[in-house]
Amino acid sequence: MIEKFLKAIFEKIYKFPPEVMSIAPGRINIIGEHTDYNLGYVLPAAIDMRVYFLASRRKDESVFMRAENFREEENFVLKNISVSKPKKWINYIKGVLWALQKEGSSLQGLNGLVWGDIPLEAGLSSSAALEVSIINGLDELFHLHLEPEKKAFLAQKAENDFVGVKCGLMDQFISIFGQKNKALYLDCENLRFDLIPLHLNKENIGFIAYDTRVRRRLSSSQYNQRRKESAEALVFLEGNGYRNFKEVGLETLEKMRSRMKKVIFKRAKHVISENARVMKAVEALREDNFLLLKELLFLSHESLRDDYEVSCPELDLLYETGKEFAGCLGARLTGAGFGGSGIALLKKPRIAAFKKKLLEKAERNRFPRPEIYEIKFGEGARVYSQVKEDKR
Ligand code: GLA
Repeated sequence: MIEKFLKAIFEKIYKFPPEVMSIAPGRINIIGEHTDYNLGYVLPAAIDMRVYFLASRRKDESVFMRAENFREEENFVLKNISVSKPKKWINYIKGVLWALQKEGSSLQGLNGLVWGDIPLEAGLSSSAALEVSIINGLDELFHLHLEPEKKAFLAQKAENDFVGVKCGLMDQFISIFGQKNKALYLDCENLRFDLIPLHLNKENIGFIAYDTRVRRRLSSSQYNQRRKESAEALVFLEGNGYRNFKEVGLETLEKMRSRMKKVIFKRAKHVISENARVMKAVEALREDNFLLLKELLFLSHESLRDDYEVSCPELDLLYETGKEFAGCLGARLTGAGFGGSGIALLKKPRIAAFKKKLLEKAERNRFPRPEIYEIKFGEGARVYSQVKEDKR
């Protein structure tokens, strides 16, 4: 078992067993893209790909970290946390320690080991899973007693203000609050959520994730640019008496069109229509209406491609293949876009043929050879602890 294996590596490196093991999952987002930072609705689900963080306390102020995926190590002192250029992975960990110290948590040095099986930079939320595994582990190790919501915010702060990616809250939130075989319907304005059971097995259908292998670096990509544009759209709506995107319907938006910059209109149109699609998708899932879900998934991709402009040819290939494939119940990009992954819902007996078709088409188009995963849904984050009361 992987847990045993990681414990053995930890002991070999640090000569003592770990006091905590913290596990946090990645996600797919079923629908509701680029709506989280626009205070709208999202519908992600935790997957059974995870990041593991093992740690024990030290008596000094030093932090020793090993990333088993890269067989790399890094160390630094708590008082002096700065961004590392060559080792990107350490910045997510440093960012969490930095955010915790900023909000006044008292930490000590630690020895740590991280490992994960979420493909990196693939849009399946490996960064948020890493941040959440770290914050949960530290919470346990140092008796911080942080509320789960607070943990999600601090993990997001690490990414926003330390790593420099202005992501929303969805990925950290689902990693913490996810439950097996349930999607999380979250209102990002007030953080109220509902867990929606996914009856996919009963229907003999399942999701695949299609990793295009096109790697966009979120921080240097147009993600932050999209945030600026939608903020501009919001300022316009506020100027017209609306509190946020949720209060505006497409007809109302259409009436304001002539007074809006074209690009800002398009961004607003995506957010408003996507919020409506999430609400309908929740109804579809509650009623096991997978034909309605199919329509919504395809429409979501079209809107992300045409109005929000975050797709790419490799992701469009998944959508187009899905559209013409009997047995596909919807396909769309998932996560930020600009590469990364898409998802498709399929009748299970048709998955192998769909994969074959995708691989052939990718090759014909001279795209990078995609990686295709059959998605299993998993638990939210957990911590296993043997931390004794203060032996520091
Ligand atoms: C990334 C971000 C999320 C969200 C999605 C797009 O995954 O981390 O906060 O904005 O993109 O929906």
